[in-house]
Amino acid sequence: MKHLLSIEQLSRTEIERILRRTAELKTNRGKISAQPLAGQTWALIFSKPSTRTRVSFDVGIRELGGETIYLNAADAQLGRGELIKDTARVLARMIHGAVIRTYAQSDIEEFAEFSGVPTINALTDKEHPCQILGDIFTIIEKRGKIDQAVVAYVGDGVSNTARSWLFAAGKLDFELRIASHKKYQPKKKLLERAGGRVTCTDDVAAAARDADVLYTDIWVSMGKEAEEARREAELGPYWINDSVVKLAKPGAMVMHCLPAHRGQEIDAKTFEQHAQTIFDQAENRLHVQKAILVELAK
Ligand code: CP
Ligand code: NVA
Repeated sequence: MKHLLSIEQLSRTEIERILRRTAELKTNRGKISAQPLAGQTWALIFSKPSTRTRVSFDVGIRELGGETIYLNAADAQLGRGELIKDTARVLARMIHGAVIRTYAQSDIEEFAEFSGVPTINALTDKEHPCQILGDIFTIIEKRGKIDQAVVAYVGDGVSNTARSWLFAAGKLDFELRIASHKKYQPKKKLLERAGGRVTCTDDVAAAARDADVLYTDIWVSMGKEAEEARREAELGPYWINDSVVKLAKPGAMVMHCLPAHRGQEIDAKTFEQHAQTIFDQAENRLHVQKAILVELAK
């Protein structure tokens, strides 16, 4: 594995290797361990805000013995129009790897191609692979396995997190149900590209019934702010609340990638009732990303 650009480009074997290593790294955190990134400097290049991803990568790289440089893309020459392929070729002479959060998936792929240094997708408009790997780890940690589970995704069904779930369902043996307004459901072509056992519905109850996991993300992803009013109106019914949870299996997990907008994609009471799971999910970003870094540093 040279880069981590999307779930789509990962094989089942690679996902399973990352998840196994995540468990080892989580168990052994804080104990004396090898420092596979010793002597390395990684750039964190962000064009969008971040709390969890930025901090977990910064801490994770340091725990593995490396150093980090944070670059707000707008402050770099990138923000004044320097080409990605030029930026990539310059940075490749100086850094050992890059973690990038941006808009277009193609920008991250171009950076990876021209830099040649290990490049990690820290969220694009199309995928949020580190998030979904951390989420899958959380499900396995709590339930023992994800195979045969039913995951119901409620909200914007074509967001970056929904798309990463879609590709994950095509690689691992679980059922994914997407509940969203017709306008925010994945198109047939995308469903065919992802494969897997995926169904889409505009009926939240149908998706939630007997589900093992209820998952949601914000209705207005970064970059979609101009559509805020329309999205709030159209996605209004697509939220997780007590009546949706009651339809799921007893003890079903409720998950949120965070940040949460209470009263929109989830209600405040349900959020607090499942806060343990949701913040374990957030913590697991650190462990899964350390596993990815170790895989890429090999
Ligand atoms: N879930 C997630 O990626 O959070 P941040 O935007 O805070 O990084
Ligand atoms: N779908 C959200 C995820 C935030 C971590 C967004 O892109 O803003």
